[in-house]
Amino acid sequence: MAPGTLQGRDLLSMDDLSVEELWMVLDLALDLKARMKAGERPPLLQGKTLAMIFEKPSLRTRVTFEVGMWQLGGTAVYLAPQDVQLGVRESVADVARNLARWVDGIAARTFRHATVEELAKHAEIPVINALSDLEHPCQVIADLLTIYEKRRRLEGLRIAWIGDGNNVCHSLLLGAAKMGMHIVVATPEGYAPREDVVERAQTSAARSGGRIQLTQDPREAASGADIIYTDVWVSMGQEEEREVRLQVFRPYQVNQALLALANKDVLVMHCLPAHRGEEITDDVLDGPHSVVLDEAENRLHAQKALLALLLR
Ligand code: CP
Ligand code: NVA
Repeated sequence: MAPGTLQGRDLLSMDDLSVEELWMVLDLALDLKARMKAGERPPLLQGKTLAMIFEKPSLRTRVTFEVGMWQLGGTAVYLAPQDVQLGVRESVADVARNLARWVDGIAARTFRHATVEELAKHAEIPVINALSDLEHPCQVIADLLTIYEKRRRLEGLRIAWIGDGNNVCHSLLLGAAKMGMHIVVATPEGYAPREDVVERAQTSAARSGGRIQLTQDPREAASGADIIYTDVWVSMGQEEEREVRLQVFRPYQVNQALLALANKDVLVMHCLPAHRGEEITDDVLDGPHSVVLDEAENRLHAQKALLALLLR
């Protein structure tokens, strides 16, 4: 595919990228990572600016977008929840229209997915979903990069999602299906991924040769897995459900017993932040199979590639 086809586009969902475009992002990320390790920092976004609107806290997403823009020769402006107050101090549409007059792109972390969609609708510049209640595509692009680096392929690998059918799970379902992976999602009753997302993933899987499987049994998912992925049981914005969720998800902890069912060289993944002792034990998170810090590092390289392709 010719370069430049992503220029000016939004990235709200994993489904906003075709298979070819996703590979384009991954290839550029690998290239930028290698060049950075060799001391090179190509100024692909010289003089460009990114506004970052956050309705929720962040460590990885904020730092990697900000550092990434700087390394590409541009700059980023961080807007904290109390600064913008999307839809409270000013309508989402007005915020989008103002920002579009000053900056070259917007990364937004919102409670409601409809808010990033509204920003994208009214801003004539690329809008990137930096996590909403529905998806976390930047995370999953970095995760696919991490898996590819470790295994030199994506197609045919079996990935087990254990825990909540949440935003990260949705993006992983869509991304894994697109890349021809076999994804098995184990969630408690009532916490399965959204049906419309599963249907979209199934459509992709039918094209790519991937496979989607849903279960309530974490052991079934972990058996023979090449990758085990988990995330917090209580996502940002769900704090009031904490007590109930801690009970419901208890059988879904990723621990040594679950790991023992997977392939010998299984990769353990977590988007972080982790709640140690809840969804994952210390010994697994810090153990030899864990690639969580590689995932965190790859947020930088993956998002630099994405920024360079969308904003250029
Ligand atoms: N994984 C992730 O998005 O981390 P932050 O919430 O710290 O940005
Ligand atoms: N599912 C988590 C991911 C955090 C990066 C949340 O939304 O809080």
